[in-house]
Amino acid sequence: MNVLITGGAGYIGSHTCLELLLKKANVFVYDNLSNSNVKSLVLVEELARNKVGFYKGDIRNCYELSSFISSNMIDCVVHFAGLKSVGESNSDPVKYYDNNVSGTISLLKAMERCKVKKLVFSSSATVYGTPNELPISEAAPTSTINPYGQSKLLVEKILADVAKADSDWKIANLRYFNPAGAHPSGLIGEDPKDIPNNIMPYVSQVAVGKLEKLSIFGGDYNTPDGTGVRDYIHVTDLAKGHLAALNYLNSSQACGFSSFNLGTGKGVSVLELIKAFEKASGKNIPFDIVARRQGDVAACYADPTKANKVLGWKAELDIERICQDAWRWQVNNPTGY
Ligand code: NAD
Ligand code: UD1
Repeated sequence: MNVLITGGAGYIGSHTCLELLLKKANVFVYDNLSNSNVKSLVLVEELARNKVGFYKGDIRNCYELSSFISSNMIDCVVHFAGLKSVGESNSDPVKYYDNNVSGTISLLKAMERCKVKKLVFSSSATVYGTPNELPISEAAPTSTINPYGQSKLLVEKILADVAKADSDWKIANLRYFNPAGAHPSGLIGEDPKDIPNNIMPYVSQVAVGKLEKLSIFGGDYNTPDGTGVRDYIHVTDLAKGHLAALNYLNSSQACGFSSFNLGTGKGVSVLELIKAFEKASGKNIPFDIVARRQGDVAACYADPTKANKVLGWKAELDIERICQDAWRWQVNNPTGY
């Protein structure tokens, strides 16, 4: 199987490339390196003892992308390429719509041209907005409040329309909850360019002494300890979810556009996460409780039953293991790649 991975040099993409190579797939990465380092792929090759076909390019260049797809006889695509900072999307929405929405349209055109009609898309639990019910199932209503979330929801709608118009398309829309952790080797992991927005890399950098202390955004939520609750999913479990989605697309069971939650089903509070990280690292994590962050919800965790039933996939690793692996990556690579 020849798989194109757009954005494959990034955090989730690199872990997915590794799992695919370990299953003997032929992996081809197309990435403009706007938020990644090609060293991740060199390390993936080392771990897998196998090669990745890499091309530095922007998915919005439909001509180049089409020739990459046809010259490598691609069978299916996993589409990670996109921008993911909520704050930046608020200050520069056009950049987000251009990259995430126009980029996906360019990819769809290139795939149509090359008659490749199997696609796995990286969506996000952000499309559920403020959930009415927990855990969140795929049938829950969608709504978003920032351009990043809008770009994901728009792409979901475009993909649903594409599959409706042409029954040859098979599309698995994966809604990730909170990806965290790193490969257990400590060789590949999350490498944020600036001060991290997400909690796990922030806590790791506090533990290693790069950042002074964590600000906990809100201690007065209607949750068991007052801090925000999320569904943290180990990046290796997440990567395996993509393999399960590809197997599904290649089966006779697949039809049209289907959404799947990729999460553990278990909510973890910020205070519980800190405790788990302190245990894994043996370090004290100083923190202050400050005002809530605008746009945050109190609690968000998945009902992953559909992915379990239809894809045969289930997250295996818990928050302790996520913290251990995040810490190993942080200690081995204090300045990233
Ligand atoms: P990442 O930034 O590490 O990876 C994205 C990759 O895409 C990077 O390597 C970047 O260089 C590349 N890229 C961006 N725009 C491109 C373009 N126009 N052409 C070619 N390459 C381009 O992010 P990640 O955490 O690995 O996330 C992967 C995908 O999953 C993204 O679409 C993101 O929105 C989605 N997602 C991520 C999270 C998360 O918490 N990390 C949660 C939900 C959904
Ligand atoms: C955030 C984004 C979401 C995106 C996801 C993955 C916002 C509002 N939401 O989700 O759209 O899909 O990242 O990239 O930005 N926290 C702290 N202190 C910190 C950082 C976070 O207390 O310094 C808390 C948050 O309030 C939240 C939890 O930790 O309760 C997780 O935060 P984060 O890692 O940023 O993920 P989300 O907010 O779930």
